Amino acid sequence: MPQSVSFVRESLDQLRCIACGRVAEHPAKSFRCSACGDLLEITYPGWRTDQGPRPSGLNVASLKALWRTRRKSLLPLDQSGVWRFRELLPAFPDGSKVITLREGNTPIYELRRCARIAGMNTLLAKHQGMNPTGSFKDTGMTLAASVARAQGFTWVGCASTGNTSASMAAYAAYGGMRSLVLIPEGKVSWGKLSQALDYGALTYQLKTDFDGCLRVLNEVVERVPIYLLNSVNPYRIEGQKTTAIELLEQLDWQVPEHVIVPGGNLGNSSALGKAFLELKELGFIENLPKISIIQAEGANALVRTMREAGGKRLIPVQAETAASAIRIGNPASWKKAVCVLEQTGGTVEQVSEAEIALAKAEIGSDGIGCEPASAVTLAGLKRLVKAGFIQPRDGVVLILTGHVLKDPEYTLKFHREELLATDDAEILRKQQRAPVVLEAIADAVISALKKAEPAGS
Ligand code: F0G
Repeated sequence: MPQSVSFVRESLDQLRCIACGRVAEHPAKSFRCSACGDLLEITYPGWRTDQGPRPSGLNVASLKALWRTRRKSLLPLDQSGVWRFRELLPAFPDGSKVITLREGNTPIYELRRCARIAGMNTLLAKHQGMNPTGSFKDTGMTLAASVARAQGFTWVGCASTGNTSASMAAYAAYGGMRSLVLIPEGKVSWGKLSQALDYGALTYQLKTDFDGCLRVLNEVVERVPIYLLNSVNPYRIEGQKTTAIELLEQLDWQVPEHVIVPGGNLGNSSALGKAFLELKELGFIENLPKISIIQAEGANALVRTMREAGGKRLIPVQAETAASAIRIGNPASWKKAVCVLEQTGGTVEQVSEAEIALAKAEIGSDGIGCEPASAVTLAGLKRLVKAGFIQPRDGVVLILTGHVLKDPEYTLKFHREELLATDDAEILRKQQRAPVVLEAIADAVISALKKAEPAGS
């Protein structure tokens, strides 16, 4: 029998400005504070009881047990790797109205070859590309799309480098809503664009970059009733928190020393940081992992912000990288990310196009694979090990954000030696495995095999 679980909780959540602390009763359509214009975040004043901060009526041990039990349940809500942890999410009035594609529940893999290459004893990767639409976006989308529908919206919209649009389009369609996608023309991989089209989104390619698309969308939602589903929407961040909870549950609540995450618009790093901080505050864990954020050299706004401005003001950049998911120069959640770096003791690093391509092929050669933006994590790890920030014995988890099939064109170009300038060729060649065209006879295959792999002959 499926377990029936009460969904209503006493502890109320609040939307509060991260800068001036003002509580927003009715948030603006842009999810910006009406007093100072900064971002909002969700807080849980109800967790603060006389016995210390706790979600009402539940203690740590019973919550851990409850979350495990739900894995066996047949209820859609319990089968979701997001809603399974609903005690740490905003209260949702009616669980049956949640839009869920059974997101979350993503595996942790051991990367053996990559560990050796990076100089680590062991290395783990939590693969968020194993979500229903192939990226981590689904964990936030289930919550924010459900809120949109509960508030009576029939349209949702986002600006995107591809994954948000694929995810939003799927959740909107499954929930019976229409969706508007604004993407930078020519800068979104075919895999992601085709998903948005397949899930029925109205897709507009604007002659600008991601940052320009977000600017236009903000104006559009002020003028027409479309609910904004970018990661400035704090419900997205709350859903994405569950990746950290699930990760710790999978590690039997042993906290790794380091979690490494790619940085684009900086919503994901903010979400993971918020989760770990809340879990510590609630007594689930005693230590925090250091969260480090890796960017492409050509889209390094946060790296420059930390190194050149001490995290005090954003230094936007004109973004350029073949890892198109993180081709973002003006990250909206930069203040939240700075706070996460400071509070967890993590760091920032930037990696070159060649380092990203090589790392992606190395993750592939472990049998795992990921999209280019996710591979910055391994490239960044190598640098952080060399710099002595990470020790070979440390527990490290890479957050792989997107599936290998999201951007097959990048993969093919890499293996055909068409992706990068020739002066990078030497270090890359060992990982390049272009397909070979042969006559359809066994002799041709066997002699090619002998040339390629003499030991296996
Ligand atoms: N990895 C992938 C695969 C992404 O799609 C993104 C962001 C990131 C990393 C960076 O995450 O923005 O939270 O720092 N993609 C967004 C999109 C911007 O529109 O799909 P972030």
